[in-house]
Amino acid sequence: MFAPVLSLLFAASALAAPALKIAGCSVAHKQLTVPTGQTQLVVPSTTTPSFVGIGVGVQNYTCSAAGTFTNVGAVAELVDISCADSSKYASLTQSVFDLWQRAPESLTTQKLIQDLSPIDPIFKQPIILGQHFFVTNPITGSGISPKWDFTSASLQGHSDAFVVGAKVGDIVAPSNSGTNIDWLMLNAAQGNLASNVFRVETRGGQPPASCTPGSPDISVKYASQYWLFGGSFSH
Ligand SMILES: *[C@@H]1O[C@H](CO)[C@@H](O)[C@H](O)[C@H]1NC(C)=O
Repeated sequence: MFAPVLSLLFAASALAAPALKIAGCSVAHKQLTVPTGQTQLVVPSTTTPSFVGIGVGVQNYTCSAAGTFTNVGAVAELVDISCADSSKYASLTQSVFDLWQRAPESLTTQKLIQDLSPIDPIFKQPIILGQHFFVTNPITGSGISPKWDFTSASLQGHSDAFVVGAKVGDIVAPSNSGTNIDWLMLNAAQGNLASNVFRVETRGGQPPASCTPGSPDISVKYASQYWLFGGSFSH
């Protein structure tokens, strides 16, 4: 995967640098579909999508004194799906999740992503967009905030290619909400990777309904689509 690195170097060193384009396809004209009859998830009208990926990873939970699970973050790897037809996005997300669900405990998300080509030819040479994880809330200094960080993968060398999100919208998953985690809309609180992030088409990630206080933290496998809008890096 040398070509993307070279084109980044070239774009960065050109005098009148064209809009930065990493490997993959433009998603500017892809349409994010959100459920009708709700006001939480609002597709931006003044920006276009810049990245669309499938996140594959785990949601972490701790057991509260009340005997219910509380989310304590997540960690996921984002694989690019920009070159697939958007009519296939939901089924690609489902297929990635099915493989991840069946994978042995020892299989990492990085390894899983290298082996997705039976699902679709776009995964023959998978593009890792970056990582999703949690950091201390950079605004308040307490609690945790979700971060999408492409600085170690598709946008290596661009130290501002990350976004820390603040949740502005949340709806239960339109189907199987006992199994599938909520769909979300976030605004950027920090970073130049995007101005908005959406988590949609979730698969898995929900904890059991109750737990025994004092029991260890758990990790629940999930996959979802992440749509990033705006930001200074187009794709
Ligand atoms: C979530 O759990 C995984 C192990 O399953 C761990 O690698 C990761 O660091 C945890 N992340 C957070 C934010 O708790």
